[in-house]
Amino acid sequence: MPPPGIPCPHNWDDLAAQVVACTACPLHLTRTQTVFGVGDREARWMFIGEAPGEQEDLQGEPFVGRAGQLLNEMIRAIGLKREEVYIANILKCRPPKNRDPAPEEAAACENYLKAQLALVRPDIIVAVGRIAAQNLLKTATPIGKLRGQVYAYQEIPLVVTFHPAYLLRSQTEKRRAWDDLKLALRTFR
Ligand code: URA
Repeated sequence: MPPPGIPCPHNWDDLAAQVVACTACPLHLTRTQTVFGVGDREARWMFIGEAPGEQEDLQGEPFVGRAGQLLNEMIRAIGLKREEVYIANILKCRPPKNRDPAPEEAAACENYLKAQLALVRPDIIVAVGRIAAQNLLKTATPIGKLRGQVYAYQEIPLVVTFHPAYLLRSQTEKRRAWDDLKLALRTFR
């Protein structure tokens, strides 16, 4: 991969090939495979999560475990199917034991996500969870303070919501996640 700051290829095949072969950070030593992204490459909605977990690392697709099932429900709640949005992560490789991404790992991976965004050109980004929100917005502000506003990431409106893995543990927050999705719906409808 080119070092941070050097653009990635602006076509899907070359970008995907670059990601598969990436050795830019030590996570390449422990991954089963890279997890590139999935969905409609012309989607209006792009959901960005944290990093592959165990199932994603094994299957090569983002959000396929239990949290993924709930993300699919969130997508259905806005009237869309999983195949109609684009889903990617801050990191393309699983951190061991699902630990938080290290800043240098996120930095090494950042251009891949930027290239995906430049290719999809969504109308709205949903930052799924604290790690995604903090990395995209370059802030350490807690997620509770980041929710409820519309930001811009590379001029694309961005809304922050809870991670579905968190929502699986906290049923009462699901209503607030729905508020986030409604805010996102209002930004471009
Ligand atoms: N959590 C994430 O943030 N991304 C995945 O792909 C799976 C779980």
